[in-house]
Amino acid sequence: MEQRSQWGTRAGFILAAVGSAVGLGNIWRFPYVAYENGGGAFFIPYLFALLTAGIPILIMEFTIGHKYRGSAPLSFFRMKGKGAEWLGWWGIFVSFVISTYYAVIIAWAMKYTIYSLTTAWGDDTGGFLFGSVLNLADNPGEVGGLVPGVLIPLILVWAIAFIILLAGVKRGIELANRIFIPTLVVVFLLVVIRAITLDGAALGLEAFFKPDLSKLANSQVWVAAYGHIFFSLSIAFAIMITYSSYLPKKSDITNNAFITGFANSGFELLAGIGVFAALGFMATQAGEPVSEVASAGVGLAFVVFPKIINEMPGMNGLFGALFFLSLVLAGLTSLISICETYIAGLSDKFNISRTKSVIFGAGLAAIVSLLFATRGGLYFLDAADYFINQFGVAAIGLVEVILIAWVFRKLGVFQNHANEISDIRVGMWWKICLSVITPIVLGYMMFDLLRINIMKLHTDADGNVIGNYEGYPDAFIMSSGWMVALFAIVMAIIFTALKWNRKAMDSTDFDNR
Ligand code: ALA
Repeated sequence: MEQRSQWGTRAGFILAAVGSAVGLGNIWRFPYVAYENGGGAFFIPYLFALLTAGIPILIMEFTIGHKYRGSAPLSFFRMKGKGAEWLGWWGIFVSFVISTYYAVIIAWAMKYTIYSLTTAWGDDTGGFLFGSVLNLADNPGEVGGLVPGVLIPLILVWAIAFIILLAGVKRGIELANRIFIPTLVVVFLLVVIRAITLDGAALGLEAFFKPDLSKLANSQVWVAAYGHIFFSLSIAFAIMITYSSYLPKKSDITNNAFITGFANSGFELLAGIGVFAALGFMATQAGEPVSEVASAGVGLAFVVFPKIINEMPGMNGLFGALFFLSLVLAGLTSLISICETYIAGLSDKFNISRTKSVIFGAGLAAIVSLLFATRGGLYFLDAADYFINQFGVAAIGLVEVILIAWVFRKLGVFQNHANEISDIRVGMWWKICLSVITPIVLGYMMFDLLRINIMKLHTDADGNVIGNYEGYPDAFIMSSGWMVALFAIVMAIIFTALKWNRKAMDSTDFDNR
């Protein structure tokens, strides 16, 4: 095994952690999730989830990485043998799946950065996305052929990721984040400032911030807040354990976790303000209420935003290019953190060089990602994203807190470890959040999710039952949803069963207390 890599500076680590957290989730997912779940009232469950689960788990994962100084499987193995190791691999295979479609969304954003310059999408932005750009197949499950327009930017995305990952932790990941994150902040601030000075911006902000307190009684709103926090903070899918394993011995844990958590939420809030100000402008132009123009995920960024850009009073192309460039920058820094989980895991387990791990791991991910660049790609992506988030990320969060708090009983040890080296000391509240509050909320969430998906109780926007997620056919949900989530668990068990190399086992370069 090569000498373990380390971050060059504290700021380098923080930028990388923030770079991982701030991603596609912040810019295109958060605004709509917040809006759909009560607007301003969503901030109450959001803050509750951030303070009781997000930041406590972040502190815990930073502590695990720093204490055991290994990739997620090696850290868990050092914690409690193979009985814990599988949890690390589970996170890694969930990350593997996410990286395969995440890269494709960045590829779309790259294309749209160029399209923006000439507003190439015309008036029918929906028709342009699904027709001209994605050439979308008629039915979910159909593969169709590769779409060249997506394939080319996708190759570019992977080429950039490869260059950064091959250059290593300090000269690759740290350097990339040092350049991309400040650029992202400047570019995105320009977008937000322009958005809030548009006609009708206040209308959008009112829709975003006006609290609908009645929504707080709905458990789905709380579930949405927890689900969002996990994806957004990059917790419970091996990333933050991997990143903190590169910390020098003398590092602060708790303070860094607070900085990362608040920076991520700050950016998210900014994204919400920017997007809704722009929606307010569009609603004003169209003479419709904001609720009529807001829409979800893919639609919001790639259909509604181009429409907004069309309507802009001037410098349309520039505004559009800056917006999509923000998505590209935020996405790239998250993508490399997602890939780093399996690169570190492969190197640790099989004692192979970083170069080989990058070629095997990211190479395989790049090949699998081609599936999402086919004519049926959008459907596969939608199903994989939903299932891997609910029955991957959120499920790991639940299992992780229960095992660590109640089975391995490690919270006391971790608390001492974090407190010895941090400015801010964690107390009883931290243990209560992780051992009581988070397991109860996530346990309920998992129960409810299983019930809804197994009994096919999904509803449409009007509350009518449509069966499976998005009303997809059973065979498709089975092959592209459940099987994907199951794949991560089965692979985790297989990789745990494989033998560790001698070097990893003999190493004593970690805190064994
Ligand atoms: N945390 C990353 C995001 O929000 C994965 O997109």
